Parts: sequence; structure tokens; C-alpha cells
Amino acid sequence: MSGICAGRVVVVTGAGRGLGRAHALAFAAEGARVVVNDLGVGLDGTPHPDSPAARVAAEIREAGGEAVVHAADIATSEGAASLVTTALETYGRLDTLVNNAGFLRDRMLVNLDEDDWDAVVRVHLKGHFLPLRHAAAHWRAEAKAGRTPTARIVNTSSGAGLLGSVGQGNYSASKAGIVALTLVAAAELARYGVQVNAIAPAARTRMTERTFADTMAAPDTGFDAMAPENVSPLVVWLGSAASEGVTGRVFEAEGGRITVMEGWRPGPTVDRGARWSPAEAGETVTKLLAEATVPGAVYGA
Ligand SMILES: NC(=O)c1ccc[n+]([C@@H]2O[C@H](COP(=O)([O-])OP(=O)(O)OC[C@H]3O[C@@H](n4cnc5c(N)ncnc54)[C@H](O)[C@@H]3O)[C@@H](O)[C@H]2O)c1
Repeated sequence: MSGICAGRVVVVTGAGRGLGRAHALAFAAEGARVVVNDLGVGLDGTPHPDSPAARVAAEIREAGGEAVVHAADIATSEGAASLVTTALETYGRLDTLVNNAGFLRDRMLVNLDEDDWDAVVRVHLKGHFLPLRHAAAHWRAEAKAGRTPTARIVNTSSGAGLLGSVGQGNYSASKAGIVALTLVAAAELARYGVQVNAIAPAARTRMTERTFADTMAAPDTGFDAMAPENVSPLVVWLGSAASEGVTGRVFEAEGGRITVMEGWRPGPTVDRGARWSPAEAGETVTKLLAEATVPGAVYGA
């Protein structure tokens, strides 16, 4: 198949449904051979008798593309390692990793159990780190062998990680961590030919079907702004060789809109060159806050 990813091998985690499925199909339509990962869990991460990765791989093949199924848990070392070896053993190479798998366990902080904290931090943060680490080790070996790759990683954050979201303390903290991981990975891996970016998507999937329940296609154009397929073109471009030079960035993607998110940077500041008393610190902070930009509202606040 021709397209901007012709010849590339792309791994997409959590590609059995929702955004990951849309990404996998979009990569295949642009000529990539795709490793379709999905453990097939329920919305809260508990076991579910489903094998959605096989369905998506079949869809890709029916459309004339190439795909292989990987149905392991990407938040385990074995699962993340075999994700990379599946690409190498099946197709002989790995070019792009899209970290996307995840689930929710929403609760207000006072009701959030340790298990719900651990499970969500694990699937998102560890579930990004481990595949990234195994893929990066492969690409570093390639670079050291004189075959510097044109490698790409696209991570999945969320508006919840950028602004915070009421009832999603575990998820927001994980998604904020994914942004920091993206920045560090972009800085560390540039020398091996690896670019690392993150998206904060919004789309109607089983994860958000209640939030976006009332959204529908525009009657005049038929454009369904909340379809997951709207987010995938940006992911495919970031995952292609065409995005050369773009790394360490975070993009919001929703409907027909792409936004470059601009991160933390110093605002109003004073340095008196000596230690403050607490009262003086308070007075100074009050003055600085009067000059500072007001942060965006936390979702749901
Ligand atoms: N839908 C949105 O509006 C939205 C907004 C912001 C961020 N996100 C993020 O986008 C990503 C995809 O979400 P979605 O809305 O498509 O949800 P989804 O529930 O439709 O899909 C997530 C998939 O990940 C799989 N998965 C979960 N744990 C796994 C594991 N350990 N190993 C392998 N696969 C696993 C699930 O089986 C599921 O098929 C998530 O990281 C989510 O947090 C989504």
C-alpha cells in the first residue's frame, strides 16, 4: 500500500477499540504494517471475555493492509518486550510506537481506593514507560550499529493531565506524568533518531460516551466532530517520517481542531537576593498573582 507510512512498521497499544482502533486503521490506510495490541479489558481494567485486537487486525487485512495481533498487557515487562519482538519477528523492523492503552476508575479523592490509584497509574504511566523503554533500547542498538532510525513515539495524555479533572485524580496525575515522560524521552532519545510527542485527544469512545452522549454529526456537512477517526490523522503524521524536526510537543486534537499546547513557563517573578520571612513571602506572592495569568479551569470544577 502507498501512503505517508509506506514501509513503516507501527505498534499501537489498546488498538482494539476507540481511538487506538482508529489510529491502527489510519496507519494501515497510509501503508504501515501494524501490530495491533489490546488486552481486551473492561472499561475499568477488569478482565473481559473479548478479543478486540483480532477484530481490528481482520479489518485491516480486509481493507488490503497488513496487521498482526498482540494481546498481552503492555504494563508488564513481558508484555512490553513481546510487543517489540512481535514487530521485529513478524516484519523485521519497528518504526513507530503509539502508546494509547488505558482505562479509568473515577472517584473523588476522598473515596479513591489505593487499588484504584495503583491500577490507573500502572496502566497509563507504566503502560507508557515500558513499551517506550523496550522500543528505545531497540532503536539505540540500531543507531549504535550505524543504522540510525527515523523512529517516532506518540504518547497519549489528556486534557485531564494538562488542566486537572474533578473525580479523576488518579487519571489526571498519570496523564500529567505522561507529558513529563514525553519531554524527557524527546530529550534523551533525539541522538538515536527518535522523536517523541504527545496528544491530548477528545473523542466519543466507550470511555467518554456519557460525556459526549449528545454530540452528533452536523446536519449540513455530516461531519461528526467527536468521531475518534478525527484524531488519527495527526497521530499518523507524527508517526511518519514526514514529521521530521517535531519532538517534545503536546497537541490537543478534537474534531477538526489541532492545538499546540504551551506548557509551564516562568510568569511574574521577584528575586530579592535574600531570604523572605513568611509574611513578606505572602505579600510578594499576592503582588505577583495580581500580574499573573489565571490558570485554565479544572474540568468539572
Ligand atoms: N476518548 C477520549 O475523549 C479521551 C480523552 C483523553 C484521553 N484519552 C485517552 O486515549 C486513550 C484511548 O482511550 P479510548 O477513549 O479509545 O478508550 P477505549 O476504552 O475505547 O480503548 C482503550 C483500549 O485499551 C485497552 N487496554 C486497557 N488496558 C490495557 C493493557 N494493560 N494492555 C493492552 N490494552 C489495554 C482496552 O482493552 C481498550 O480496548 C486512553 O489512553 C485514554 O485515556 C481518551
